[in-house]
Amino acid sequence: MTEGKRVDWQKARDLCAKIYMARGIPEADAYMVSDNLISAELNGVYSHGITRMKMYMRYIDNGQANSSGEIKIINEGPATLHIDGNNCLGAVVATKAVKKGIAKAKEMGAAIVSVRRSNHFGTAAYYTQMIAEQGMVGIAATNAFPHVAPLGSSKEYLGTNPISFGAPTASGKPMILDMATSVVARGKISVAAEKGEPIPLGWALDADGNPTTDAKAAANGVLLPIAGPKGYGLSLFIDVLSGVLSGAKFGGHLGPHAVGNTSKDTDVGHFFVIVDISRFMPLDEFNERMGVIISDIKALPKIEGVSEIFMPGEIEQRKVDVNMKEGLLLSEALLGELQKMCERFGIDFNL
Ligand SMILES: NC(=O)c1ccc[n+]([C@@H]2O[C@H](COP(=O)([O-])OP(=O)(O)OC[C@H]3O[C@@H](n4cnc5c(N)ncnc54)[C@H](O)[C@@H]3O)[C@@H](O)[C@H]2O)c1
Repeated sequence: MTEGKRVDWQKARDLCAKIYMARGIPEADAYMVSDNLISAELNGVYSHGITRMKMYMRYIDNGQANSSGEIKIINEGPATLHIDGNNCLGAVVATKAVKKGIAKAKEMGAAIVSVRRSNHFGTAAYYTQMIAEQGMVGIAATNAFPHVAPLGSSKEYLGTNPISFGAPTASGKPMILDMATSVVARGKISVAAEKGEPIPLGWALDADGNPTTDAKAAANGVLLPIAGPKGYGLSLFIDVLSGVLSGAKFGGHLGPHAVGNTSKDTDVGHFFVIVDISRFMPLDEFNERMGVIISDIKALPKIEGVSEIFMPGEIEQRKVDVNMKEGLLLSEALLGELQKMCERFGIDFNL
């Protein structure tokens, strides 16, 4: 990260929400998007933090996303919700959909929520965290614009399709796995290309479909899925659940540049599973059992050079503690982007 400064996370939260409100997003929705971005910043997932404001603003400016509107329930079963996101910003759609899912899971024991006509929803962990905080187990997944080649192909078709699993623990900090299904994000390759640095073999193919360590060649090529056929299959099934099942666009049909895509709507799909633990055992008992799994793993012998074994999500949670206390470290470039948006809407830039 370039030189920047630490800013109070609550001030940053209010400023981001204010900018969205100035663009016509209702206050509650503006805070939903802002909370999503600030949560990523706090967790140190900078690729999905405030840097995404520009992209979301562009979606609204060019008519790819609606600034306001309500999500609609297309179909509701005893434990299912099929939701039309009304092409609002993904964080708004997904937050509202998950809230409805949590309410249904409280009533019915579990809920499966399938969402169509949404947009980029930020980090998948944001939603499993919401679910785990309610004493429930959650799964969150989404499809994304195609940048990843199915195994054996030289052409992109799948997105970096992330999936997150979350479960509560006795400490109050849930265990959260949140991962893209590509080896790396495209952004990491662009950064290496800009610096003129090589990339490890296995991250990407060049435009001719050859494995490459040349970041510039990779930037013009395609990303590879994690773990060969397993990552390819996982990513594909995330799209089956998020895209095919919901009625959203899927695979190579997603995104403004997809062949035959005449609609401006990005039509991203999401998939959520919410399980009420108390239908299986008392939450205290579950938390106790989670405590055993965590302490078992933490006590295992460590390989040379490793001082601690981490649980999924633990590294991010430690960053939250630091960033809440010391403030979010925003780069000069990012502060400049925020300032420009403030100028556009006549908002006082007060970070
Ligand atoms: N909305 C979208 O379209 C989209 C697409 C792709 C990715 N994303 C988001 O991008 C973010 C980054 O994804 P990523 O795959 O680069 O994440 P990552 O590789 O940084 O982390 C993946 C997981 O591994 C865990 N982890 C990392 N190091 C660990 C260690 N030493 N021990 C134990 N666990 C460890 C992390 O806690 C995390 O749960 C995620 O939040 C994801 O949801 C979003």
